[in-house]
Amino acid sequence: MADNVIRIGIAGLGTVGSAVVNILEERRTDISAVTGKSIEVVAVSARDKAKKRNINLQKCEWVDDPRAIARRDDIDVVVEAMGGDGDPALTTVRLALERGKAVVTANKALLAHHGHLLATIAKQHSAPLMFEAAVAGGIPIIKMLREGLAANRIDGVYGILNGTCNYILTTMERTGEGFDAVLAAAQKHGYAEADPALDVDGGDTAHKLSLLTALAFRTTPQLGGLDVMGIRNIGIEDIRAAAEFGYRIKLIGQSRRIESGEVLHMVSPSLVPLRSSLAHVDGVLNGILTSGSFAGESFIAGRGAGGSPTASAVVADLMDIARGNAMPHIFMEPVATLSSRKMVSSDSWAGRYYMRMVVDDKPGVIADIAPILRDHKISIESLVQKGRGTEEPVSVIIMTHEANGSDIRGALGQIAALKAVARPPLAMPVLDI
Ligand code: NAP
Ligand code: HSE
Repeated sequence: MADNVIRIGIAGLGTVGSAVVNILEERRTDISAVTGKSIEVVAVSARDKAKKRNINLQKCEWVDDPRAIARRDDIDVVVEAMGGDGDPALTTVRLALERGKAVVTANKALLAHHGHLLATIAKQHSAPLMFEAAVAGGIPIIKMLREGLAANRIDGVYGILNGTCNYILTTMERTGEGFDAVLAAAQKHGYAEADPALDVDGGDTAHKLSLLTALAFRTTPQLGGLDVMGIRNIGIEDIRAAAEFGYRIKLIGQSRRIESGEVLHMVSPSLVPLRSSLAHVDGVLNGILTSGSFAGESFIAGRGAGGSPTASAVVADLMDIARGNAMPHIFMEPVATLSSRKMVSSDSWAGRYYMRMVVDDKPGVIADIAPILRDHKISIESLVQKGRGTEEPVSVIIMTHEANGSDIRGALGQIAALKAVARPPLAMPVLDI
């Protein structure tokens, strides 16, 4: 790096990459005053050179293949904002790190799948790999866990980590609009992934959770064995029923120590009590609640998706690199000493559950369901039937006393096989946070 100039190449000029270019231009003077360095965009790359973009690219060179950016000697830092857990993102990041260049990425899928490999390469070449933007958009949760709470033993992390899902759930609740219409609006705002199934089926939350878990529990990111349920099957009737019980439904990624001493991680729509700060994280906002051995509970919320909030985090990483503040390790410690601890998932989640079954409204249905619950040691706290008892099936909603995840799963399988059950039943954990 020249003394007072950091030369960057940006691979990906979509929602995030374009916003990075704009922030670097708009805040040029202040960034230079704060870091003592000038951050210059030297080269950019995306798929379609002819695409109209609302950014000023006059001073930088267009490169057709993003991997070529990583190979250039006149570039100090590569910003990867293309997305995807394969190529060209993977090779671009690898090549840059192998050349000792710093990398800043917003790509949680890449790090969740290849975090261990990339951390190893980064360590071999003493190259920083920064990813504040990869989790919770503009919220500095990576810094909070890696630096601010570093003295603590972290006992739990609960996060609303996907802006698209939170936007869908809160908009459905507020307006009564259907799932598909609200998802289309989230895509229009630039919140959703290129493949929105990653958002609504929980994969994106899983990627982000695996990174937070890696930091909180000093392990490598682990997706294997992480149970993931998205929000596709949550209906307005669930949102309303949860509200009647005093809860809101949020897609929660959680990882925490359980009594056995193991770490449990899972992604699931969950009932969050109205008293909890997480219940009031609305729209595209994300929120994360952590529990530390000395700091106690900390809560942070902000814009979890969209160009400007995410680019704010990318530029913060660039400024850390410019100041010489980049972390020496990607995760909490050298990759060689990170644990590959065995984790448990939803089968080990013990607590109250919300169960919803859509059944034919005829005599004997509850009598069929009751023995299944009894055989799985599931005790009913309350039971409500929603519907009018006409030809249409009705929803039977059950709040359970404390039950085990494995028993809930077993019961759901047997209930689904009953003739009177019209749609697959669902169960969501009721959180006590
Ligand atoms: P996007 O709007 O779809 O932009 C992707 C960019 O990458 C586009 O400029 C595209 O080129 C380029 N690109 C894609 N495939 C390419 C290829 N094979 N070769 C060269 N260029 C390629 O995506 P985004 O929303 O900015 O997201 C980028 C990354 O940030 C992803 O990892 C995403 O998960 C992450 N992220 C996004 C947000 C958000 O709110 N959007 C928030 C946090 C993190 P063209 O423009 O020519 O098509
Ligand atoms: N699609 C992601 C979301 C973008 O909706 O949260 C931010 O990572």
